[in-house]
Amino acid sequence: MRSTTILVALTAYISAAAAAPSNVVPRADAPCDAWSDECREVITGNACFAAYITGTNKSQVLDCVDVEDHAVSERKICNCYGCAETTVQQWAIDNLQCAP
Ligand SMILES: *[C@@H]1O[C@H](CO)[C@@H](O)[C@H](O)[C@H]1NC(C)=O
Repeated sequence: MRSTTILVALTAYISAAAAAPSNVVPRADAPCDAWSDECREVITGNACFAAYITGTNKSQVLDCVDVEDHAVSERKICNCYGCAETTVQQWAIDNLQCAP
């Protein structure tokens, strides 16, 4: 079955990409708790992230978590690494310096 072969190859490719090391080490020393205070806005902000994450305005993305204090937004996104949407995590790698 040709389509099965393609699916298997694609799955392997995605797994390899997900495991690829990045140049930024996200803060993920402890397993994150998706419903902790640190993570709640990051998870529930999905629609907001979806609206702004493809843009170039970092401020709008940080507003999705905390409008008042972007340092808090950055900290929460970093602390929620491992629980957030993969697009949000990739954005964090590209835009934030999550301290290990
Ligand atoms: C980014 O978005 C904020 C609102 O969240 C706005 O105040 C600011 O002017 C925008 N910056 C740019 C460069 O568009």
